[in-house]
Amino acid sequence: MKLSVALTPPYPVVVEAGLLARAGDYIRAPKVALISDEGVAPLYAETVRRSLEAAGSRVCTYTVPKGEDSKSLTTLEMLLRKLAQDGFNRRDAVVALGGGIVSDLAGFVAASYMRGIDFYTLSTTLLGMVDAAVGGKTGVNLPEGKNLAGAFWQPKGVLMDVSVLATLPEREFRGGAVELFKHGLLADPDLLDDVARPEFRRDGPASFLEGTVARSVQVKADIVAEDEREGGRRAYLNLGHTLAHALEAHSEHALSHGDAVAYGLLFAARLAAARGYADETKRVERFARWVAPTPLPVGPLDPLLPFIARDKKHLGRQRWVLLEQIGRPRIADDVTEAELRGAWAYLQEAVRDGVDKDTGRETL
Ligand SMILES: NC(=O)c1ccc[n+]([C@@H]2O[C@H](COP(=O)([O-])OP(=O)(O)OC[C@H]3O[C@@H](n4cnc5c(N)ncnc54)[C@H](O)[C@@H]3O)[C@@H](O)[C@H]2O)c1
Ligand SMILES: [Zn+2]
Repeated sequence: MKLSVALTPPYPVVVEAGLLARAGDYIRAPKVALISDEGVAPLYAETVRRSLEAAGSRVCTYTVPKGEDSKSLTTLEMLLRKLAQDGFNRRDAVVALGGGIVSDLAGFVAASYMRGIDFYTLSTTLLGMVDAAVGGKTGVNLPEGKNLAGAFWQPKGVLMDVSVLATLPEREFRGGAVELFKHGLLADPDLLDDVARPEFRRDGPASFLEGTVARSVQVKADIVAEDEREGGRRAYLNLGHTLAHALEAHSEHALSHGDAVAYGLLFAARLAAARGYADETKRVERFARWVAPTPLPVGPLDPLLPFIARDKKHLGRQRWVLLEQIGRPRIADDVTEAELRGAWAYLQEAVRDGVDKDTGRETL
């Protein structure tokens, strides 16, 4: 399945099982810096290297440790210097093989080496596919905060081999599914049905996963094409993320992004329902229970309020993305503290309802 991100120039996104072994059909460069991490490289780097070499590229593989710590200025410097030492020039390309961490890092390497060289992404996580790979945001973290240094640098092509999802840890799969579900709420109700089907699993049928991933990518691609630098519609992608960012920051990142967004989507659904918009809380709640077996900390909203107000994307003003109905998001900047308290009370009630049958723990 092939789609196109309609920016200037447009770039293709190919979604196909077995694609890694055909990477050389899509990537053309005299020399390729193949950047991956220690979780992905042992599984897939050799397949990609062979395909690129068969197509005539010389390949240098650089493997960084797994985890957010690799999205750092130190790793960026190390990689830039490696490229210089290995004689990379403007005609060469950087290829990211991994999840969002690798593609954010490698994208910034490509954006900054010699003021920018070609960049391709081979996404290997569901989040990497439906979220990080498309849109051109690249960057690293600073000790002062996540993603504080970076650049917009659009890839030349994006390849998604859905068969690699089979080796992804289940928690990572569900975390990525949250962004896919979010895309469904924003623009494609079929995605909401897809995630509830038995075929929606890491090792599900290739044609089903290809279709679902491609439709989710299409939602993001459409939004990004209209708003490359985030001044307009791109803000809709923040659905569920206002509360999520506050929960993550307050928990000092003990809560995963996927779990936090699952709670955030439910919170936003409740805010919308209380305003008399469409009531999707039950549907979102069912999904959130599947995603987030970790219990949401039970407690007052008050310690979260400063984090909600501080969210960097809000520029001092709270902007909530609320759905008038599925496929019709709007930005609300007049949400009151009383509304937040009402939605929070609902979330706490939902937590009380659920007890995980295996662990006996309270779950959402
Ligand atoms: N640029 C953007 O628009 C954007 C959007 C969303 C998120 N992000 C960024 O993405 C990052 C998170 O990305 P992620 O969730 O993909 O995490 P990740 O890149 O760390 O990947 C998750 C883990 O799974 C392993 N892994 C990856 N693919 C695998 C596979 N097929 N089989 C087995 N193991 C595999 C990795 O080694 C890693 O340990 C964050 O840093 C976030 O800021 C960026
Ligand atoms: Zn997110």
